[in-house]
Amino acid sequence: MSYAPQPLSDTHDLEQTKAWLRTYQRVRAATEAICAPLHKEDYMVQSMADVSPPKWHIAHVSWFFEAFILKPFQPGYQTLDPAYDHLFNSYYETHGVPFPRAERGAISRPTVDDVYCYRAHVDKAMQALLENPPEEHLPEILRRLELGLPHEQQHQELLLMDIKHILAQNPLCPAYRDDLAPGLAPTPEQEVPPLGWLDYPAGIREIGHDASRGGFAYDNEMGRHRQFVEAFQMADRPVTNGEFLAFMQAGGYANPEHWLADGWATVKAEGWRAPLYWVERDGVWHHYTLGGLVPVDLSAPVCHVSFFEADAYAQWAGARLPTEAEWETVAQDVPLTGNFVDQDHLQPVAAAKADGMPGQMFGDVWEWTGSAYRPYPGFRKLPGSLGEYNGKFMSGQMVLRGGCCATPADHIRATYRNFFPPEARWAFSGFRLARDPPTSKGMPMADHSEPRITLHPLSRRVRVLVDDSVIADTGNALELREKGYPPRRYLPRGDVAMAKLSVSHTVTHCPFKGDSTYYSLPDLSDIAWSYDHPIEEMQAIAGRLAFDGDKVTLQVE
Ligand SMILES: [Fe+2]
Repeated sequence: MSYAPQPLSDTHDLEQTKAWLRTYQRVRAATEAICAPLHKEDYMVQSMADVSPPKWHIAHVSWFFEAFILKPFQPGYQTLDPAYDHLFNSYYETHGVPFPRAERGAISRPTVDDVYCYRAHVDKAMQALLENPPEEHLPEILRRLELGLPHEQQHQELLLMDIKHILAQNPLCPAYRDDLAPGLAPTPEQEVPPLGWLDYPAGIREIGHDASRGGFAYDNEMGRHRQFVEAFQMADRPVTNGEFLAFMQAGGYANPEHWLADGWATVKAEGWRAPLYWVERDGVWHHYTLGGLVPVDLSAPVCHVSFFEADAYAQWAGARLPTEAEWETVAQDVPLTGNFVDQDHLQPVAAAKADGMPGQMFGDVWEWTGSAYRPYPGFRKLPGSLGEYNGKFMSGQMVLRGGCCATPADHIRATYRNFFPPEARWAFSGFRLARDPPTSKGMPMADHSEPRITLHPLSRRVRVLVDDSVIADTGNALELREKGYPPRRYLPRGDVAMAKLSVSHTVTHCPFKGDSTYYSLPDLSDIAWSYDHPIEEMQAIAGRLAFDGDKVTLQVE
């Protein structure tokens, strides 16, 4: 899919140019539709240095067309105000002197109305240019237009990110919109499926944009090349809020063992204890969304986490983040569908079901990879000032893939490389896990220095009581010791009063043990669980029951 009416070629007719004009008008209108719910007071706020005021965004994207198309190629073009070339230049040092990024919120003039006049002025000139293009410059005009349109789409996503950050600073938690499309309501039947792992064999992969197939790509995707990718496993969906909450509850933010040094320093400096926008209200985690403050949907992909948090979770879970080559290997066979801005959720939503395919590769959340943002072999930046678009940022940033709920659907592709600094959290950024294939012996996970889980036969008698009624009594328990958790005793089923228990609807998944079934008493739910078909390394606990010490009395004598 592409926003382009048809691939560029060396021959152009008037119909093709008209189609480009219609596309230009559609993309420009989409920007204004995003800003329509804003009040004028919202347009001015710069809530942090990385956030630009909406007023600046809508002026800057107009400046891009003016600076790189109208001024060079429209004979007699008159700008509305020469000062705009400085105010709305983002970072193009070879074009002129950019206005300091962190001070964009200080520009109260031109006003919002002035900036909309500027947009209209540029649009009128662009229409005139495309309706009567100078023949000798048309190929270059269209090539720059082909960059200017996705540039504006990038800013549409940035606008939604920045509007969210701006409104989130307000203790009143105002909604950007109160008519967003709802996600799937989680019900027992539609609960997020257990995490599954998909196997990919080792092989030489073709990575990067395939120019022979046409279509637009940024310069940073160019240089299709071969890369050897070892066998790996990829999670069949992103990590959910519920899974991330388990990391939090296990003390994930308090244990330096999981964190990169820079990540741990950031956790301490920033006081992180949850993803951005999460707040605890009366013991329930809520998060700010573009629809206002709502309880966190535990089934939806976790969002607004940094690379550091994604990496720490992966360490804790005994897995890792995928490389971008692994991610692209998986994504290139996946249909380009998902929860994009067009779905109008403006928030990641739970997956409907698992079908054995990689789920939610596109849309919902940008997925952090473990790859640094660096040039591909053969990378050539664009000539002139536009060479500053991507290439000069190839230092100190990590790659994210797949687009998000704020990305236009026709803006994303499998080879698309987004990038942010590792501490950034205000993008719609989440992650999925990858891992090396399990080995035939020992724990399959990454921590080879010390097993995450060990099992120990317990010679002591273990009794389980509810009120004064004995539910289990055994001298043959297995004690499971897992990093970050209290020890659990798994009791043989024959020593448990199974007739008193019934299977509940609750099912959970642990990447280190497998799927667990839960058991309830008539008036006490989910007091015990068992792994009936655990992973190979955990066969010793198959069918045994462990009891929740918060709900029953556990006596170890
Ligand atoms: Fe820009």
